[in-house]
Amino acid sequence: MTLQEIKALDQRYYMNTFGERQPVCFDHGCGVTLYDTDGRAYTDFFAGIATNSLGYAHPKVTATMVEQVNKVCHTSNLYYVEPQAKLAQLLVENTFADRVFFGNSGAEANEGCIKLACKYFYEKGEDRWEIISASNSFHGRTLATIAVTGQEKYQKPFRPLLPRGIVNVPFNDLEAIRAAVTPHTAAVMLEVIQAEGGVIVGTQDYIQGVRALCDELGILLIIDEVQTGMGRCGKLFAHELYGVTPDILSSAKALGNGMPIGAVLAKEEVAAAFHPGDHGSTFGGNALACAAGLAVLTTMLEENIPQKAGETGHYLLSILRRMAEGKTSVADVRGAGLLIGIALKEELKAADVVGKLLEKGFVVGTAAGNVLRLLPPLIIEKENCDALVAALADVL
Ligand SMILES: Cc1ncc(COP(=O)(O)O)c(C=O)c1O
Repeated sequence: MTLQEIKALDQRYYMNTFGERQPVCFDHGCGVTLYDTDGRAYTDFFAGIATNSLGYAHPKVTATMVEQVNKVCHTSNLYYVEPQAKLAQLLVENTFADRVFFGNSGAEANEGCIKLACKYFYEKGEDRWEIISASNSFHGRTLATIAVTGQEKYQKPFRPLLPRGIVNVPFNDLEAIRAAVTPHTAAVMLEVIQAEGGVIVGTQDYIQGVRALCDELGILLIIDEVQTGMGRCGKLFAHELYGVTPDILSSAKALGNGMPIGAVLAKEEVAAAFHPGDHGSTFGGNALACAAGLAVLTTMLEENIPQKAGETGHYLLSILRRMAEGKTSVADVRGAGLLIGIALKEELKAADVVGKLLEKGFVVGTAAGNVLRLLPPLIIEKENCDALVAALADVL
């Protein structure tokens, strides 16, 4: 089909939640290159919103998935699932966590985190169910996760918000959290780097301070690593950059490299609060998604992908900053690893720059606050970065 034919079908039959999409339909990909329906090549600096971290048609991930499809995709959680058990083991062996639960998306993982925090205090006989989250954050699109997502544009049409007892406070402001704590507070929920919210990096003092405050008050720290995790910021999970560990963590996106999967990770004492029947999922943790996740995580660990992402990210950040010195339209360049934001001044719209770069064969995205967001596959090479920066300099 041509792009025009696909667009006509989409506009007639698909619910218009995405507005005017970028004028392209990607047909296939290989490594860091995507090809559209006309066969034109693009270098990908967005990875399907931080998802295709090992790039497209990754030999090992693809072969594992094909093998699993030929065996069985799904059996349900009424039965034992080998790839699920193995992926849980590998996650536990490489993180702070002792136990894992799999769902299908980031929002679903965050729902699981919130439920687990509440259930933990229910089990202890404490009346704690409030969650403190940050303004400008992004935690998903379900009714509970838009409540923790501290952005008016997502919350306004759905008021009154669910669930009860969610309060959004300014990010990077420890005293704001302290002031919001009540006898009913169960947890603080944060991204250590607010990605969708404009690539706002949490300061060391703040993230470490939040951990200490949670310990002091006996409440839980939930870290949302749906976007920052799985190597994106130079460590397997970005909280490692801060020398703190959460009590509960959500992962998704790059965990499946394109296969829908989400995960709740928790320490034993907390995880033990979930008893049979407290949580569940038909598809979550199915054999296909977990086989993909297992191939992804194994590859990332064997090939030191997080460390490489840190190094390439450092390089990309430095050449972007150098380029930005000569550009009056750039207000700031920031990020960690391969999660990078380029804040533009008002006279230039980030969405327009995205369109111009697409015309030049580069896929990039935006974030809140007129920010260009770069989230390439973690296997991106320095030459790709050089080419992107040259094209961006031209556009700016
Ligand atoms: C930090 C964070 N949490 C949660 C989500 C929601 O994930 P999903 O779209 O898979 O539900 C996102 C999606 O962008 C995200 O960036």
